[in-house]
Amino acid sequence: MKPRVLVTRHVYPAAIAMLQEECTVDYHDSHDVLPKERLRRRLQHAEGVVCQLTDTIDAEVIAAAPQLRVIANVAVGYDNIDVAAATARGIVVTNTPGVLTEATADLTFALLLATARRLPEAERHLRDGKWHRWDVDLLCGTDVAGRTLGIVGLGRIGRAVARRARGFGMRVLYSAPRPAPDATAAELQAVHLPLDTLLQQSDFVSLHVPLRAETRHLIAVERLCRMRRHAILINTSRGPIVDEAALVAALEEGLIAGAGLDVFEHEPTVHPGLLALPNVVLLPHVGSATVTVRTLMCTLAAKNCMAVLRGERPDHPVQAGVPG
Ligand code: DGY
Repeated sequence: MKPRVLVTRHVYPAAIAMLQEECTVDYHDSHDVLPKERLRRRLQHAEGVVCQLTDTIDAEVIAAAPQLRVIANVAVGYDNIDVAAATARGIVVTNTPGVLTEATADLTFALLLATARRLPEAERHLRDGKWHRWDVDLLCGTDVAGRTLGIVGLGRIGRAVARRARGFGMRVLYSAPRPAPDATAAELQAVHLPLDTLLQQSDFVSLHVPLRAETRHLIAVERLCRMRRHAILINTSRGPIVDEAALVAALEEGLIAGAGLDVFEHEPTVHPGLLALPNVVLLPHVGSATVTVRTLMCTLAAKNCMAVLRGERPDHPVQAGVPG
């Protein structure tokens, strides 16, 4: 009998076609998120689930799925899943790293440039019919070339952002639990610093760490106070890494000059203080949003799911020691 797989939300069709070759697919083909009770009910007989970052797969949900063998997240981040509870049950959790690295780094840089050069504000100015002539001081922003970028977290995406920064002639600093291997540091010409020192020296700070207990509110009042008054904060990782209320206060008080945010503490709700500020650029979590990348993320999650159900080692388990 084919194993039963729940796909919790709409995905690119290629992923469903792949899954259907080997599995019985229970497809919730909707953009709506399944409420917890319905999710629990539909997981009752599932051996696999292909889920998204909007699905909370906590200990209670896992407990309601006695046959579950694999949780395949369509995302590189997996803070929506209680990995400890899954591991305790021998359930493999997988993610989709790699395929979204360059697109997310592109978006990070787009956001950095848009914030520094006030692009949304400039476009609004034109569309609102306010552009009457060229003025020497119209919508002037901040230089990017030659400035210092502090990258917090030098994983795949952090490194891809560093490469882009080198192309812009930026000085690159990074903070990470361990210095990068010599070859990486040399390629990126990036300098390893403690986070607090990085914040004091950077003109732009870009966050690229996963959301874990120890990174929640990594950037809060104290660290915002360490940043330079002309600095711009960019976040394309996870919203709760920044204390959003503290960020609003810092922006309002001029402790930092601006922020470019693709992720928020309570998505899809955005702090009203951010919405009211002119010096922030706000995007609806679109870091990896290209058709190619999102299709690859969906098919990679399907492949990970099917590998586990076949008894094979998936390409991207998040737990160490998943047997082959
Ligand atoms: C991820 O993969 O974790 C992103 O947030 C969505 O691409």
